[in-house]
Amino acid sequence: MNALYRFGISLEKSLLDAFDRVIKTENYQNRSEALRDLIREKLLQKKWIEGGAVAGAIVMTYDHHKRELVNKMLDIQHDYHDTILSTQHVHLDHNHCLEVIAVRGKARDVERLSNSLKSQVGVKHVSLSISATGEESR
Ligand code: NI
Repeated sequence: MNALYRFGISLEKSLLDAFDRVIKTENYQNRSEALRDLIREKLLQKKWIEGGAVAGAIVMTYDHHKRELVNKMLDIQHDYHDTILSTQHVHLDHNHCLEVIAVRGKARDVERLSNSLKSQVGVKHVSLSISATGEESR
C-alpha cells in the first residue's frame, strides 16, 4: 500500500476557480482526487510518447460481407497475439459486426495494430482507447 503525501500548491485564484468549476461538472468529490487523475493522465501521456506499456481497447465496426476482410483481420490479430488479451465479437445486424479488442503492450504496438485494422477496406470505424497498466512507477 502506497503512503499518502500532502503538498501545497500555489496558483492564481482565477485558475483555481476555473479548475473547481470543471471538476464539479465531472463529479469529483474533492480537488485531491481530481489532481490525482490529472497526474495519472500526464504520466500516461508521457508513457505513450516514450513507447511504454499501456492497456486499452480497440473498438471497431465493419462490414463482414466485404471480400477477404474477415480473413485479413484474423491474420492481423494473429500477428499481434502478444498484444491482444481478448476479442469480443457482436453481430450488430445482417451486415455489420462490432469488435472490442482488449490490448496490453507497448504503446507503439497497440497503435500499429489499431492502424492496420483501420486501413482495411470494409472497416467502418475504429477507435482506440488507452488506459494505464496500473504500474505507475514504471
Ligand atoms: Ni458478426
